[in-house]
This record gives sequence, C-alpha cells and structure tokens, in this order.
Amino acid sequence: MKKLYGLIVLLALAMVVAACGSDDAGGKSADKDKKSGGKNQVEIFSWWTGAGEEDGLLALIDKFQEENSDLKVKNAAVAGGAGTNAKAVLATRMQGDDPPSTFQVHGGEELNKSWVAADKMETLDGLYKENDWMDKFPKDLIDLVSSDGKIYSVPVDIHRGNVIFYNKKVFKDNGIDVPKTFDEFVAAADKLKKADITPLAMGDKESWTATMIFENVLLAELGPDDYQKLFKGDIAFDDKRVVNAAKKFGKLLDYINDDHASRNWQDSAQLVANGDAAMLNMGDWAKGYFVNDLDLKTNEDFGYFAFPDTDKDFTIITDTFGLPKGVDNPDQVKKFLTFLGSTEAQDIFNPLKGSIPARVDADESKYDDYGKDTMKDFKETTLVPSLAHGSAASEGFLTKANQAVNIFVTQKDVDTLIQALKNAAPEM
Ligand code: GAL
Repeated sequence: MKKLYGLIVLLALAMVVAACGSDDAGGKSADKDKKSGGKNQVEIFSWWTGAGEEDGLLALIDKFQEENSDLKVKNAAVAGGAGTNAKAVLATRMQGDDPPSTFQVHGGEELNKSWVAADKMETLDGLYKENDWMDKFPKDLIDLVSSDGKIYSVPVDIHRGNVIFYNKKVFKDNGIDVPKTFDEFVAAADKLKKADITPLAMGDKESWTATMIFENVLLAELGPDDYQKLFKGDIAFDDKRVVNAAKKFGKLLDYINDDHASRNWQDSAQLVANGDAAMLNMGDWAKGYFVNDLDLKTNEDFGYFAFPDTDKDFTIITDTFGLPKGVDNPDQVKKFLTFLGSTEAQDIFNPLKGSIPARVDADESKYDDYGKDTMKDFKETTLVPSLAHGSAASEGFLTKANQAVNIFVTQKDVDTLIQALKNAAPEM
C-alpha cells in the first residue's frame, strides 16, 4: 500500500498536467506510430535543458548519433530543475501508455517506488551481463537501481549534493577560511554579512534547492546511519536531532539573499560567480555551470568544500535511464542504454555535467581537480541517498517535504515543519 503512494502522487500530477492541455511531449491523443516516431527513433526524456544542464546531454546525443546514423534521436527534455515539470509530464505519458523510449530517473525510491513497483519497467539484468557491467559500476550504485534483486536502469553519473561552492576572491578579501563546522560557518557568515555580502546564495523559485540545504543539515546532525534510518521510518521526525536540524536550517536562512524566491538555481549560482554572494550549497551540476557556461576556473575563481560537519559523507544523486515496458523498439533503446553505460559516453557526459562517472574504470585524466577530488571522496566517504533528488524517499513524501520546507523558508516555524514531516512520513 505504502509503495503505491508515490505512484498515486505522480498520477495525480499527471491528471493536473493533462487537464491543462498536453504539449508535444505529452500528447495522449496522438496515434501510436506518431508518438513513438517509428522503430528507428530513440526518444530521450529528461529535464536537462538550458545553461548548466544540457551541455552533457547534447554531447552524448551527438556522439551516439555519429555512431548510429541509422537511428534518429529525439531530445524530449522538459525544462525545470530537479524534474520539477518533467516528472509530471512523464507521469501523464506513462499513465497514457505512451512512454518515451527512455527517461531520466534517479536511482533509489524514485525509480523503485514509482515505476518498478507499478510494473512499468523492464529488467536490465541481461544488458548488464552482455556488457560485463557487474563489476564496472560500484555495488552500492547497482543496489540503488535494483529492486528485489533485479536491475532496472543504467546510471550515467554520480553527483554530490553536500558541496558548498564559494567565491575565492570574496573569501580572500574578507579573510575567511573554509568553514568545516556549523559554528565556523556561522562565524564566517556573520563576518560576510557585516561586509554587506550575502553569505549564502539560494534560489528557491523551485523549492528543492531549500530542501537540499535541509537534508544536508539533517545529515550533519544525525550522521549517515541515522540519516538513512530517518527515511526508512526507524527514527521519528520529532527526534531531538531532527528538531535541532530544523533550528539550524532556520539559522542558515538568516544568511540568504532577499530575492531567493524569484531565482532558480542558476540565478543563485550567478550571485556567487559575480561576488554578490559568497557561498552556494548545490549539487555539482553547479560546477558544470560555473566552468562551461560562466567560464570560471576551478580552484581559481571558485573553490568548494563539504557542507559543514559532513566531510566524511557523500550525498549521492545519480541520474539513470531505463527501459519502460511497452516501447515498440526495445532493441534500439538498448543500443542507447549500452552506449550510455560505456566509458566513452560517461567520459563525454560527466566532465561537462560537473559530475563524476558512474563507472569505476573511467578515464580520470578527462576530469579537472574538482572531478578528481570527488572521485577520491566517493571512494573514501559514506554514501547517503538524497531526499531532494529522489533517492531517499518516495515522490509522495518528497512532494510534501518540499511543500513543508517552502513554508518553513518564509515562516521559520520549527513545530509546523516537524509536524508536516511527521504527517507525511507514512508515505515514505
Ligand atoms: C537533479 C539531477 C541533476 C541536475 C539537477 C538540477 O535532480 O539529478 O542531474 O539536473 O537536478 O536540475
């Protein structure tokens, strides 16, 4: 029953989208052939559009197209960070038996509780065997894309979510050292505030960016084991440490830019890039944005450090692609998935995206210092799944958590936040 909640929320979203009229990616009424684009078309559905998001995808598509000139790739991306809009469009299509050939989905509960539990995905065990992939991806990652011992998708990247990027010049000019603990962070932030610089950039036009900050404070307060227990329902949301995390989250919100609600993540990253703000907690797609879109230099213009009190941990966000049931050209789609899982594809995509390759045997020389440091940290730290990016809990819970966080950002009422999370917990 619990498992079905995520799907029910997605289907509800789907109905809202359908009621608003369908776009070309979600046309429920089109006939099957028109929808699938024929056997030679591979339609890739994601939310990677625009600056900081699409460079890696476009490079991947180009290479795949070059190697498979008999196939036609359709890029069906729907804008909106963290899948804000794409997930609803996807739900409409899945509900209408009009799946894209393959779609972006986070490993963990977003894949398992929404689509695998609803019996909408093919298993990919055979593909992993044919390509000899079982020891090419970390076991923890294969576990994230598996359910009941069967594998359901191919990870293309590993993003780290507990990173703070900072403007090096702003730190230097204000005599700030990299803060390692919450108290050091607060001391640095107070100093910056006095100097009239926004300490922490946030753009929560889409509320997942604030949820990311909250999940990292939760990780800092609970530690990796209990953080995971919280989302398994083994620790209650009114646990003292969760309450403390909410208070600390509230404190961090004292340091954000006033116009946070009108900015998206790229807009907030710009504040750090131009020195109006000092720090940004964002997944490392922000590194891709800084380097590829804003022409900043890693470790010269911007630096990075683990979110305070979480340097031994790694909040993992992995984008994966699977094979939906009901596509009329599964063999062609598997060609794309095989490409996606290759070192060639991963080393094209990840240096542009800011992430590290999901494969263990990728070519390190293709990555900058940030990538190399992150590959090392990935091996040496404890991995925890991200809530904001679909791995830790079902979509149903995440939707409510995002709403509760959104209200908290304006009201800062700890009891209301805790109560809302408690109420949503049965949907995890
Ligand atoms: C995440 C996704 C990343 C990036 C980010 C911002 O959910 O895993 O690849 O696209 O959203 O949109």
